[in-house]
Amino acid sequence: MTSSELRRRFLDFFEKQGHTLVPSDRLVPADDPSVLFTGAGMNQFKAHFLGLKKDLKRAASCQTCFRTGDVDEVGRTSSHLTFFEMLGNFSFGDYFKLEAIQYAWEFLTADLKLPEERLSVSVYEKDEEAAGVWLKAIGVPKERIIRFGAKENFWPSNAPSDGPNGPCGPCSEIYYDYGCCTVGKVCPKPDACAPGCPCGRFVEVWNLVFTEFNRQEGGKLVPLPAKNIDTGMGLERLAAVTQGKMNVFETDLFEPVIEAIIRLLRHEAPDVLKRDQRASVYAIADHARALTFLLAEGVVPSNEGRGYVVRMVLRKAARAGRGLGLERPFLHQLVPAVVKAMGEAYPELLGRRESIAKGILDEEERFAQTLKEKIPLLLGEIRRGPKGFPAQEAARFYDTHGLSYEEIARVCAEQKAAPPPRADFEKAVLELQAGSRQNSRFAGGIFAKDALQEAVSGIRAATEFVGYDGLTAQAKVAGLIQENRLVEEVKAPASVGVLLTRSPFYGEAGGQVGDTGILEASEGKLRVLDSQWVGAVLVHQAELTEGKVRVGDPVRAEVDPARRQAVARNHTATHLLHAGLRKVLGDHALQAGSRVADTGLRLDFSHGKALTAGERQSVEELVNEWIESRLAVSVAQMPLAQAKAAGATALFGEKYGSRVRVVSIGEVSKELCGGTHLTASGDVGLVTIVGEGSIASGVRRVEALTAEAALDSMRAEVGRLQQDRQRLIQRNKQLEEEKSSLKAKGAA
Ligand code: ALA
Repeated sequence: MTSSELRRRFLDFFEKQGHTLVPSDRLVPADDPSVLFTGAGMNQFKAHFLGLKKDLKRAASCQTCFRTGDVDEVGRTSSHLTFFEMLGNFSFGDYFKLEAIQYAWEFLTADLKLPEERLSVSVYEKDEEAAGVWLKAIGVPKERIIRFGAKENFWPSNAPSDGPNGPCGPCSEIYYDYGCCTVGKVCPKPDACAPGCPCGRFVEVWNLVFTEFNRQEGGKLVPLPAKNIDTGMGLERLAAVTQGKMNVFETDLFEPVIEAIIRLLRHEAPDVLKRDQRASVYAIADHARALTFLLAEGVVPSNEGRGYVVRMVLRKAARAGRGLGLERPFLHQLVPAVVKAMGEAYPELLGRRESIAKGILDEEERFAQTLKEKIPLLLGEIRRGPKGFPAQEAARFYDTHGLSYEEIARVCAEQKAAPPPRADFEKAVLELQAGSRQNSRFAGGIFAKDALQEAVSGIRAATEFVGYDGLTAQAKVAGLIQENRLVEEVKAPASVGVLLTRSPFYGEAGGQVGDTGILEASEGKLRVLDSQWVGAVLVHQAELTEGKVRVGDPVRAEVDPARRQAVARNHTATHLLHAGLRKVLGDHALQAGSRVADTGLRLDFSHGKALTAGERQSVEELVNEWIESRLAVSVAQMPLAQAKAAGATALFGEKYGSRVRVVSIGEVSKELCGGTHLTASGDVGLVTIVGEGSIASGVRRVEALTAEAALDSMRAEVGRLQQDRQRLIQRNKQLEEEKSSLKAKGAA
């Protein structure tokens, strides 16, 4: 069965059982600052687990995930990956253990027809209920039900003792028995081989989590408002099992990619490679997939945060390539193969093939350059020092110059100097990075550690946004936050985060800034300086200037109308600019990001080179023509498929629900967008581009102003030109005078 069929079969199965199918969230979550990458299907449902959102009872998805916890295992085992797809079904206070186990068993044995005797299960050691369901309701023999502690069978792993805070619960895993070792090793304990054995005979395919607790500071497990189900099954592992392969890399998901690597190596077939060579090929295949998807979402290799993780993954792959004799940049050549394998399921990749490959090539070249420049520095340092090379020095070369432990150790060995022990080196690196980069070491923290999020998790209802049609609303105070804690009452003067039952304030999203305005409570007055979503809850950052405010108080909320109008002007202008860029440069010039404020706008888009003066002018002229034509701006709600069929530009990586909001400007622009807009393009008044430049390989940024601000900037420009003109006239006069005096002298 192909993996496309598997995806379909899984989603169909759960749809028949009353689950709403939800599209995959982005790999870089749009509204969850607490994690670097999406690591599980449940991430996008955090608010549902906490009881904040109540629009779904049952859901199922196929989620793209990226995790680096096992990056060193990738290629060496039969099933570890950094990038993978997670099939999952979820219940929010609906069904629980019995049904979750029954569904999983039915899907595997009745729908996919996996032989029952090949399946074993594990349960949390204290979970008698789950063990009972497996034994009595399903009939799994006792010897194939194994009990593990909180490290294996709690999710997140060891959550009760180690955290993170947030939803968690005991879990039960389903293992497939290959009947023999799968990692090319002989089983260390053939008579006692069982799930968890490192020989890889048993591969974990499905994890069923019974999410019933909210872990709080200190390890307290507080029951959640409802009992939930969160499951995750690796598509790649399931594909291996159903396609009769011993290894995820032998499935159809990887076939074109492995083939492309083998071609680069000029090798006949993967099975004649030595074991460690094969491990390198597999690791490269995994990393090429991860890089393709991450760059497609606009992550750019850098020294910080997500960019740092991407850089490290790319270097790992490049080193694996060097180990196989691929000395020159090669990873970018694998992008078409990844797109071939994944493009059907992720058509967004198709249009970005070139820019992804270019981004990877640039970074490969940068890495080659690093090696060329830094190895001589390292050599000098090693030669200068005593016999052994100290761990702190090695860590510095790793951290500032980007050399890996392997490279440092290799150069040390060539110079007959002892490299530091790896453990000392790693410790020194951690110490160096303890500061700013701590966050980039993805620790698997799926839940917010962020104190604000923690505080907001005490609020049981999502904020209803009522600000598309009106700028004022009556509401009640649902919560007050001071110093990251919920409080009952606040007295003036004070800074306070105000949560309302409903609000006309637009919380920052989709590049558009949050609204400002005022809140009039029954006994106090507040000035709102910013509005930000924290999950499903809108936090109005406010100054209490008079009186006091208490939870439950009625409030009249009013958005600053002039600022909202200015933001709308810039947002509509952003859509026009996007359309203009695509018209002048080509359809590839897709938006990669934006910032829409009251003072101006910024638009990032894919394009390989700087705009020429002519192109810049054409875009500006086109946009201003559209403004002059007074095109109507209209908003419609429709199913996602219908919007795409109508040609609406869906920004890759943005997350859309099943019904979407489509903003159209006459016939020239149609975009999926949740922002606030003008009703006619004419109200933009005027657009002028004030800046254009590169922000990353293949990504350009234009900055523009509208209306008054545009006029002011043009007046200032005219003023500058006039000054320059005056200066030139004066200088010319001066030169003329000098010339005639020289002439006079010459004549004398
Ligand atoms: N959230 C669970 C996992 O990632 C299903 O394993």
